[in-house]
Amino acid sequence: MAKKTILITRKWPEAVEKRLSETYDATLNETDTPMTTEEIGAALNEYDAVCPTVSDKLPASIFSGNHRAQILGNFGVGFNHIDIEAAKAAGLTVTNTPHVLTDCTADTAITLMLMLARRAGEGERELRSGNWTGWRPTHMMGTRLRDKTLGIVGMGRIGIATAKRAQAAFGMKVVYYNLVDVPDAALEGIEATRLDTIEAVLEAADVVSLHVPGGGDNTHLMNAERLALIGPRGMLINTARGDVIDQEALIAALQSGKIAGAGLDVFEGEPKVPQALIEMENVVLLPHLGSATTETREDMGKMVADNLDAFFAGQDVPNPVT
Ligand code: DGY
Repeated sequence: MAKKTILITRKWPEAVEKRLSETYDATLNETDTPMTTEEIGAALNEYDAVCPTVSDKLPASIFSGNHRAQILGNFGVGFNHIDIEAAKAAGLTVTNTPHVLTDCTADTAITLMLMLARRAGEGERELRSGNWTGWRPTHMMGTRLRDKTLGIVGMGRIGIATAKRAQAAFGMKVVYYNLVDVPDAALEGIEATRLDTIEAVLEAADVVSLHVPGGGDNTHLMNAERLALIGPRGMLINTARGDVIDQEALIAALQSGKIAGAGLDVFEGEPKVPQALIEMENVVLLPHLGSATTETREDMGKMVADNLDAFFAGQDVPNPVT
């Protein structure tokens, strides 16, 4: 029987590309050049499976219902770059890669929090630019995290993993907001107080970390009014999706001192990052590195492969987007 044809839209870790090439007639993207939406739309008619990732855009307009492709094996847990309803209406199964990137993304949230609280980016820039004049008692004083309150907005897997790290390693108190009840078992080993509203979390926290999916009702969840509630000593961390924050409102809040600082791994309209953010010292910026470790990216790729294998064997896919 002829091998199924699959398209991988970006360069993936070699171990995974090798595995997929053994099982499938796989078209790889050796140059890692981003594909346009039109090219991905056309690929739906050429391949049995298309494997996009978070830097691709798959709007409703590319799904016609007459595709050769039967499955989208998304490389990533987040799927707000795909119009899921339209994809499903067109008969496509969509899968994603949950769990395997939880630890790395929580590590990234903690990295941003520490860098921000201890002014690490600012300090490194000072030293590298030759402007460090030596130790002095009032030089670049940051904020101690012990006994400070971390506010988690979105207490899912990554929110919980971030809270656990902050409490165990830095002795932070944890408050959180979550739309639905979080099972007790998931909160084992952590003392966390659920508050009734996002506003209450923003007011109570010294550091707010966002862990909700992007798109839909979460677009601009952090608007000007909510940002102001974080307060002039408060910090905001975002490893979720750029559109969860109204970026213009964030810039205004940082410039006017309504909040103390921000640590951002994701941006509205990335990879473009506003110059205003780049120029601010009280902001730590990372290029969407949340899951960027060799181990995790390989695990994500393996998970896509497992989903494709199950699908083409006529079995239930392990990680359907429902
Ligand atoms: C995801 O998987 O959604 C991350 O943003 C990229 O790893």
